[in-house]
Amino acid sequence: MQKKVNIAVLVSGGGTNLQALIDAEKKGIIKSGKITLVISNKKDAFALTRAERANIKTATVLRKELGSQEAFEERIKELLKENDVDLIVLAGFMSILSKDFTSDYEERIINVHPSLIPSFCGQGFYGLKVHEHALAKGVKVTGATVHFVNEVPDGGKIIMQKAVAVKDGDTPETLQKRVMRLAEWKILPLSVEMVSNKLINVK
Ligand code: GAR
Repeated sequence: MQKKVNIAVLVSGGGTNLQALIDAEKKGIIKSGKITLVISNKKDAFALTRAERANIKTATVLRKELGSQEAFEERIKELLKENDVDLIVLAGFMSILSKDFTSDYEERIINVHPSLIPSFCGQGFYGLKVHEHALAKGVKVTGATVHFVNEVPDGGKIIMQKAVAVKDGDTPETLQKRVMRLAEWKILPLSVEMVSNKLINVK
């Protein structure tokens, strides 16, 4: 049997997308890859607790402590190398990676974004803000996108998208929950399996 692709998940917050990945691996939806490392850029991210509960190795890398974006990215790269990581998944990771970083991992970094790119994306569009903008614009359909990460925020090649209806009376919070449940938690694991399956052959 071929070896599995080693996956690192980068997080900053609650980690519901990380949980969807952990559950998908357990269920065999993700079968070509294994989550071997979770890196957080926030000390108190609940995602770290989710990883520990699933017996996944964790690391915390704080930009403030390291002094610069360069040192922050270098530390992450070191961890990825030490752990022989093949694929990086940004799952609610609220830091923009430089070209220096992304070019080292071309088509090996994927991100989940809570809108249908190219709507409501790019610098300043993250988390609940995305849904606030979608509601302010009055769109009737939104959704989620999984894409490869390059130097342009939310600008890399699209891997999967799923549309979700906006309902009358939605708040940013109710819309966020629906987009997560109906789109993000589904297309992120499916995309991770698809990309891992391709990478397994070059391992
Ligand atoms: C998710 O909705 C994710 O798509 C979004 O942040 C949330 C993180 O939730 N990411 C971005 O906005 C990135 N631009 P989680 O920590 O529960 O997975």
